[in-house]
Amino acid sequence: MNTFNNFIFQSPTILCYGKGASSEIEKKELIPKGARVMMIYGGGSIKKNGVYEEVKKYVKPIVEFGGIEPNPAHETCMKAVKIAKENNIDFLLAVGGGSVIDGTKYIALAMEWTATEDPFDMFTQMEKASAPKSKIGVVLTIPATGTETNNLFVVTNYGKKDKALGCNDLVKPYFAIVDPCHSFTLPKNQIINGVIDSYVHVIEQYIGHYDSSAVVDRFCEGILKVITTAGPKTIEEPNNYKYRADFCLAATYALNGILATGIQQCWAAHMIGHEVTTYYGVAHGASLAMTCPGVMRFNKEKNAKKLAQLAERVFGIENATAEDGINCTIKFFESVGGITRMSKYNFDHSHVEEIASKFKGRRIGAHHDISYEEVKTILNDIF
Ligand code: NZQ
Ligand code: ZN
Repeated sequence: MNTFNNFIFQSPTILCYGKGASSEIEKKELIPKGARVMMIYGGGSIKKNGVYEEVKKYVKPIVEFGGIEPNPAHETCMKAVKIAKENNIDFLLAVGGGSVIDGTKYIALAMEWTATEDPFDMFTQMEKASAPKSKIGVVLTIPATGTETNNLFVVTNYGKKDKALGCNDLVKPYFAIVDPCHSFTLPKNQIINGVIDSYVHVIEQYIGHYDSSAVVDRFCEGILKVITTAGPKTIEEPNNYKYRADFCLAATYALNGILATGIQQCWAAHMIGHEVTTYYGVAHGASLAMTCPGVMRFNKEKNAKKLAQLAERVFGIENATAEDGINCTIKFFESVGGITRMSKYNFDHSHVEEIASKFKGRRIGAHHDISYEEVKTILNDIF
């Protein structure tokens, strides 16, 4: 597959990056005077690390909503929708990691959803979503997902056991504050997950095509180089600003849409990984440490040239083979503390069938060749 597709790319987000970037909220008047702001956050980490106080210097919310959980719940977001409507909110400020930001994007769209009784239906009928009346601003505290400048959001309906991915340009944030210092307090395992997540974001946009766009290839390889060098350093020296700043920016650019311009994307490792998270309860990045090598092995022949290119250009292997691309990836994940086999968690094998069943009638991956049987093959391979 080597077509260079036409594309339209627009990134409306005002990205304020660096130490003390929150102050730009006031300096650049990023929240209009008189806006009715709802500040949304997670389980309380921002109250322990000072981010809450810092943001409150520049923002006077009408109401606050705390308690968005990791892998945000549709059920929780609906409580926020009710409060936002009761308070005539027109500006949603998310302060937290990917879960808080994704939850906020969903809340913005759910506030306007009238097409059916249940806003969760938007994940299968996104064309019926109306433009949010509330603008979205974000203050990021975890470098990982890239959600701070992109159009994606992932929400779990725990009642339906469904972790759904939404894509809608209308929820690209109006502004994003990315201050690497905000993530200094992250526990080591969260940074490890962030390093693996951002690596896999690039891979899902890099691996499923060959010789499509020289620019996108070189962007991907540059970002992968930074993730594989600054990533391990920022895990070992969490308070080193330079390492953290390099890694945070790489994580933002890994999934802001620019690496997807003109090329065939994959996302099979993510689709299967989301189900692994739902059924086995592992964090998002931890699920990808297993599913990414699994998908690479499954499509080794189809992606052979690109896997070899990955090994050569990112990991410096001369005369590399496809196998080298896969082995370098696994070695990198394990070197930063990732677990690449499901058996290492003592997972119950019986969920394999349930997870695979979710893919009946669907075809995923860059080559549209992964469905029920193939997901079973991949899961059995990574067990
Ligand atoms: O809830 P609080 O108390 O804030 O604690 C959080 C949470 O427990 C904590 N945390 C956040 N910032 C911290 C901190 N702890 C200490 N210091 C800080 N500075 O970290 C825990 C995990 O947070 P979470 O937001 O869940 O992590 P992450 O940013 O990795 O987001 C994961 C979610 O994003 C989705 C995933 O599926 C998952 O639901 N994704 C979203 C994407 C997107 N929108 O583009 C793409 C990704 O591929 C991914 O699927
Ligand atoms: Zn991800």
